[in-house]
Amino acid sequence: MRKKLIAANWKMYKMPDAARDFVSAFLPLVKDHSRDEIVLCPPYVCLPAVIEAVRGSQLGVGGQNIFWEKEGAYTGEISAPMLRAVGCSHVIIGHSEWRQYFGETDDTVNRKLKAALAAGLQPIVCVGEVLEEREAGLTQQVLERQCNLAFSDLSGLEAAPLIVAYEPVWAIGTGKTATPEMAADAHQVIRAQAAKAFGDETARNLRILYGGSVKPENAKALMSQTEIDGALVGGASLDPKSFAAIVLY
Ligand code: PGA
Repeated sequence: MRKKLIAANWKMYKMPDAARDFVSAFLPLVKDHSRDEIVLCPPYVCLPAVIEAVRGSQLGVGGQNIFWEKEGAYTGEISAPMLRAVGCSHVIIGHSEWRQYFGETDDTVNRKLKAALAAGLQPIVCVGEVLEEREAGLTQQVLERQCNLAFSDLSGLEAAPLIVAYEPVWAIGTGKTATPEMAADAHQVIRAQAAKAFGDETARNLRILYGGSVKPENAKALMSQTEIDGALVGGASLDPKSFAAIVLY
């Protein structure tokens, strides 16, 4: 059985004080919850506050991006070993906002994925089609391409910590969600690509999250699909009550 993982992607929201307040309000709501793993991915500047605030709890903390080099003259960038050093366990890679606004490509996703794994971070690699691709019937092709390139040059053993998030771009921040069946179909495509790249065992154990307008109202229907191994939650993860309601679906 794959343990589900519910991750909060706060994007560019919250100051350190607000991040601390979130954790104080959120922790009591999920105090005894061990069914799923919970990870918070705040902006970089909130990482120390959040890591300090979750200490002693079951919560993990992740970054929202990394650069693939360990160090160097790369003004403004943060490396995987740096996230590890401050206490992160996870990192989001290849989010569609990075692909859309900051020139992320399948190749840079692959480089970042290798860097994250080498540093001992659990990468959450995001893939997903845009609306035009879905309407043109290209969803499967797009997912296959994104996965193939992202997963290249890694063994099954190296890729064991990998987590993938299927995030149809048309569902992010729009209030539209993929139906549980649409998500389950996409997840099967992703798992098949993982089997090709890493072998059956790694593919069987691979957790594939769904992301895109996950809310307390739709969490149960999505999470009860056997192909859906958790959620990557943006907007609805900013409020402790609403994120707790998703975690406790
Ligand atoms: P959303 O964002 O839940 O606000 O749609 C999800 C994401 O971008 O990871």
